[in-house]
Amino acid sequence: MSCWMPGCPALSMCRGLAALPITCLERAKDLKTRLGILLHKPEPGHKSGSSSKLQLGSRRRNSSQEVLEWRESFDQLLKSKSGVNAFHTFLKTEFSEENLDFWLACEDFKKTRSKTKLASKANRIFEEFVQNEAPREVNIDHETREITRKNLSGATSACFNEAQAKTRTLMEKDSYPRFLKSASYQDMTKQAASRGASKRSHT
Ligand SMILES: *[C@@H]1O[C@H](CO)[C@@H](O)[C@H](O)[C@H]1NC(C)=O
Ligand SMILES: *[C@@H]1O[C@H](CO)[C@@H](O)[C@H](O)[C@H]1NC(C)=O
Repeated sequence: MSCWMPGCPALSMCRGLAALPITCLERAKDLKTRLGILLHKPEPGHKSGSSSKLQLGSRRRNSSQEVLEWRESFDQLLKSKSGVNAFHTFLKTEFSEENLDFWLACEDFKKTRSKTKLASKANRIFEEFVQNEAPREVNIDHETREITRKNLSGATSACFNEAQAKTRTLMEKDSYPRFLKSASYQDMTKQAASRGASKRSHT
């Protein structure tokens, strides 16, 4: 077996101890997996591994591990394309996917460079998600809605900032914890964990 996390205690534990009883090795592997999930950086105090070691670590980080990272923070989930997809599927079951769609539309909006496109996109986003009785109205307070409306004239790429941030907070506090507890996410983590375990026990 190979230890791929620099600074992983399992590394020194297992090195050269192939003859150890299997249970100890299994436990070390389990520990290593959990550390792999928790640690994004080598622990301070340990000499960080060579860059090739680090690259090896990130190359081995795959979709199973990604699934497990979504529960670390809402940020981790939003950074992952497949995470966003899974969360979107979940929100559909709760009929609240417009929040995520609005958030995604704002992400796209902020990348828009052309002034004319910025203005037309801003109006479209406002009509679809923000204005009163919008077809896919997101849940934001009256005041934020009114400031956003004023922001539309002379739209800058920051004109939805507050509305977007409020929608994000709402999802983080409300839907995200339910997503983590949902049967579909629980199934995904079980599959991810067992995929990892079965692969490692053959190495
Ligand atoms: C209005 O636009 C400004 C930047 O032009 C931004 O800082 C502010 O957060 C926006 N207001 C809302 C409610 O999004
Ligand atoms: C991810 O790694 C596990 C073992 O750690 C492996 O079984 C699985 O097939 C890998 N998945 C992908 C998509 O590479």
